[in-house]
Amino acid sequence: MKMLILFSSRDGQTKKIADFIATEAGQHEVCDVINVAQANQVTWQDYDRVLIAASIRYGHYAPEVDRCIADHLPLLQARASGFISVNLTARKADKNTPETNVYTRKFLEQSPWTPDRCLVVAGALRYPRYRWFDKVMIRLIMKMTGGETDTSKEYEYTDWQKVAEFAGEFVQITGKSLYK
Ligand SMILES: Cc1cc2nc3c(=O)[nH]c(=O)nc-3n(C[C@H](O)[C@H](O)[C@H](O)COP(=O)(O)O)c2cc1C
Repeated sequence: MKMLILFSSRDGQTKKIADFIATEAGQHEVCDVINVAQANQVTWQDYDRVLIAASIRYGHYAPEVDRCIADHLPLLQARASGFISVNLTARKADKNTPETNVYTRKFLEQSPWTPDRCLVVAGALRYPRYRWFDKVMIRLIMKMTGGETDTSKEYEYTDWQKVAEFAGEFVQITGKSLYK
């Protein structure tokens, strides 16, 4: 059996996190990383573990995330599954758990899916790559929340140690054997 990581990423950080987890988990089992938009093409029977990793943009995950969950709910529920939320609010120590991160808490409350594990991790702030409007908006939000405002720079807040620990724990989950 293999592990599947479905990712939703606009600027690449969530894909980078997915690839990192695949490398970590790869020490235990084969792991495929696939865009969540391609979930319909997945041979689900090949996988006994599934992670969905998604980033926040203007308060929301991409609509493909909800769509994937709605389309594959019984398949997700029958496997060891986990959700990874990537956002910049999580750069703050008091906002980086499923309970304290507003996007993750709301997601878990509203989603029909109950993942076995959940990770909240900070993403990256890459001003030079953003188009003008996004750069202005993000800088404003950063200014209001005490973040970095130098738009000539890129900042990576991801706690790779935390991600590695999550990956190590996730591959240890056992007990779900209802693979459909
Ligand atoms: C246009 C834009 C809007 C964003 N909106 C939010 C937001 O509302 N809340 C938040 O915590 N982070 C927000 N972020 C930060 C992203 O979640 C963060 O940059 C993340 O690393 C992006 O992941 P990705 O590279 O996989 O797309 C935003 C970033 C961008 C570029």
